[in-house]
Amino acid sequence: MLAIRLVSGSVRPDTLVLPVRPGGPDSPAVPVPTATPSVADDVRAEVEALLPAARLTGVAGEVREHLRPGATPQRLWLLGVGAGDEQDWRVAGAALARAAKDETQITITLPDDAGTALRGLAEGLLLGSYRFRLTDAGTRPSLAGADLLVADPEALADTLAAARTTAEMTALARDLTNTPSSTKHPEWFADQVAAAASGRPDLHLRVREPRELAAEGFGGILAVGGGSARGPRLVELDWRPAGARTHVVLVGKGITFDTGGISIKPVPAMKLMRKDMAGAAAVVAATLGAAALGLPVRVTTLAPLAENMVSGSAFRPGDVIRHYGGLTSESTNSDAEGRLVLADAMAYAVRELKPDLLVDLATLTGANAVALGKRHAALYSENDDLAADLLAAITSAGERAWRMPLADDYAEYLASDLADLHSSPAQGAGSVVAALFLREFTGELRDRWAHLDMSAPSWSDDVHGELVKGATGWGVRGLLRWLGTLG
Ligand code: BES
Ligand code: MN
Ligand code: ZN
Repeated sequence: MLAIRLVSGSVRPDTLVLPVRPGGPDSPAVPVPTATPSVADDVRAEVEALLPAARLTGVAGEVREHLRPGATPQRLWLLGVGAGDEQDWRVAGAALARAAKDETQITITLPDDAGTALRGLAEGLLLGSYRFRLTDAGTRPSLAGADLLVADPEALADTLAAARTTAEMTALARDLTNTPSSTKHPEWFADQVAAAASGRPDLHLRVREPRELAAEGFGGILAVGGGSARGPRLVELDWRPAGARTHVVLVGKGITFDTGGISIKPVPAMKLMRKDMAGAAAVVAATLGAAALGLPVRVTTLAPLAENMVSGSAFRPGDVIRHYGGLTSESTNSDAEGRLVLADAMAYAVRELKPDLLVDLATLTGANAVALGKRHAALYSENDDLAADLLAAITSAGERAWRMPLADDYAEYLASDLADLHSSPAQGAGSVVAALFLREFTGELRDRWAHLDMSAPSWSDDVHGELVKGATGWGVRGLLRWLGTLG
């Protein structure tokens, strides 16, 4: 990973990056006042002289090189940081990482009040230079180090550490999600969690195997996992710091590949279904991040893991499933598998863990993207405060979600002649109805539960801001920030 250092005082870099921002209507971009007179002073006059002709807008992510042959720095880069909020800096950092792919070392000056800028810029540099280790092995960028010039490095050390942990955990979630399903099966995923949690005696991991799932009645996980030669698992990862007053349970959908099962998906819909465990990856990574940052909140993560395959042992449309805790569901479409595994894990959380708050993340429906496009998750909660807190955390971390209705009258669609619930009604409002199905398993936590359908933003088809093509790690940043607000 790119090494980021905080430095102060007088430095003479080869490549110096100076932030600029919009100068107002019809005016050229202007330099952002920085904390480093030592470096900036001898070039400031030069920059101010060239800006009027440079046609820079200062919009976040704009990068312009100015060469100074024979002088130091040899290369002056002007970096647009827009209005200068955290996400602008994140976008700028990612653009800078891309622009600097042929550099080995860059130096960037930060403003006096550097907290927000540092958080965004450091995350942007790290997230923008992320490459998946298998597919991009030969095209790794050479950029090895970024020195950030600030007035007081010590005062900002914690902010840099938080940015680094956030980016590292996001990269972990991206790695897990990008991994091909030939490698990635339920046991493999559980092993990855064990490896990531090893060396931390304060993190407790329990992995249930099919025998234990059967003994305890996890009928949804077993049904969905039954068609695969590689059996299902339930990961339970617990971060329990001394003195924690709030207990959060996070649940993440962990379908390591979704063929649709007997209700098999057509080719275009199936091709990316290795990403169908992005929810599990995000909640695991957020929990590891909470531990790494020592957040004073108890977090238990549940990741129901299964491969939804087509075979003689696969569950069938019309089967009735008995979920953990006893509720039954009739499934007429084996492609609505995510809600079946989540139902078990949520019912277990409500009955056995009895947390204060329950949040689930799932690549649950294609309807998420139909309703909101490719970049917003759908957020559901009956609790206005919880919804507002989550939205605020998600937004300030640079992710996006939009609140959707748990419309009670649509819950009629969940009626079944065979079972307590119909799991895959097809009357429309697919993301809403899936959320309403999950709500049936929240018991006493009904108004302390939130659901995030993040099928759409879990993947990016192109380079966009701090996102690279492929898995985005959506949810890690927002969850970590939200967990950081709980005490
Ligand atoms: N994993 C899919 C949802 C999905 C679709 C995620 C596209 C990411 C991108 C999920 O298991 C699924 O197949 N959902 C069905 C539900 C339907 C059968 C009720 C869907 O959305 O079509
Ligand atoms: Mn499916
Ligand atoms: Zn799925």
